[in-house]
Amino acid sequence: VKTLVTGAGGQLGRALLRRLGGAGVGLPHAELPIEDAAAVARALDAHRPDRVVNAAAYTQVDRAESEPGIAFAANRDGAAHVARACAARGIRLVHLSTDYVFDGTRPSWREDDPTGPLNVYGRSKLAGEQAVLDAHPGALVVRTSWLFSRDGANFVTTMLRLARQRPVLRVVADQRGCPTHADDLARALLALEATGVVHFAGDGPTTWHGFATAIFAAARLEVTIEPIATSDYPTPARRPMSSVLDTSRARALGVVPAPWLDGLRACLT
Ligand SMILES: NC(=O)c1ccc[n+]([C@@H]2O[C@H](COP(=O)([O-])OP(=O)(O)OC[C@H]3O[C@@H](n4cnc5c(N)ncnc54)[C@H](OP(=O)(O)O)[C@@H]3O)[C@@H](O)[C@H]2O)c1
Repeated sequence: VKTLVTGAGGQLGRALLRRLGGAGVGLPHAELPIEDAAAVARALDAHRPDRVVNAAAYTQVDRAESEPGIAFAANRDGAAHVARACAARGIRLVHLSTDYVFDGTRPSWREDDPTGPLNVYGRSKLAGEQAVLDAHPGALVVRTSWLFSRDGANFVTTMLRLARQRPVLRVVADQRGCPTHADDLARALLALEATGVVHFAGDGPTTWHGFATAIFAAARLEVTIEPIATSDYPTPARRPMSSVLDTSRARALGVVPAPWLDGLRACLT
């Protein structure tokens, strides 16, 4: 199966290409801006993949509040272009979405629970999911959360950088979610045989404070981490208080999430 990966320079894109080896073709943002429908069509005709994983997205949650046009161009319109082009050519599509489509008011979230994004990024990703499934009813949309890998801009690399700069870190302790190792997500995306929406996230809910504590324990770093409340750390974008994804559907499909702590240890060795 020849798989084309969009957003190939991102943390998930790189994890996918590592896993795909010679069966993967990666197109980074500069080579394929997905908001350009003609460029998307040309790329599919040039590479003729059996499957596309759309890992391209505008992912800067706070910045999206002040540049919604760019967020929607990538996350809604770009996703729609990829889906239409795949549908027209009979190409399987795996598209990525986010826990931030939910409002955070329930302890955990199943695929058919009501959405209610609290920020521009979440609204743009929800619009993208809907556009993808409208244009390509056979597509698979995988919602994931709190993605990390050894490289790229993510919570793990940010915590390790801040620990070198400051003796005490203040970390939000009242938002709950599931950290997800990009390598484990890549495995799941290539293994899942399904259509519609599937949740996939690392095993075991925690808080950002719990995640930070695990990072410094695994990295054997002595850092003081003060738990703080969301209200003590104002950000331009509101975030859901609980975005724990229920992964029962993925498990029933035979694709079982690994404990995120295993992924974290693998990142730090
Ligand atoms: N990171 C998380 O915690 C998280 C959580 C839940 C869901 N997700 C979803 O998981 C997927 C992968 O995320 P990630 O963490 O790998 O993100 P990432 O590291 O930011 O990678 C996204 C890639 O997409 C590229 N891109 C942005 N706009 C584009 C456009 N218009 N056309 C083509 N490429 C474009 C970016 O390139 P530039 O950097 O050059 O712009 C970047 O290389 C996304 O769909 C994201 O919404 C992520």
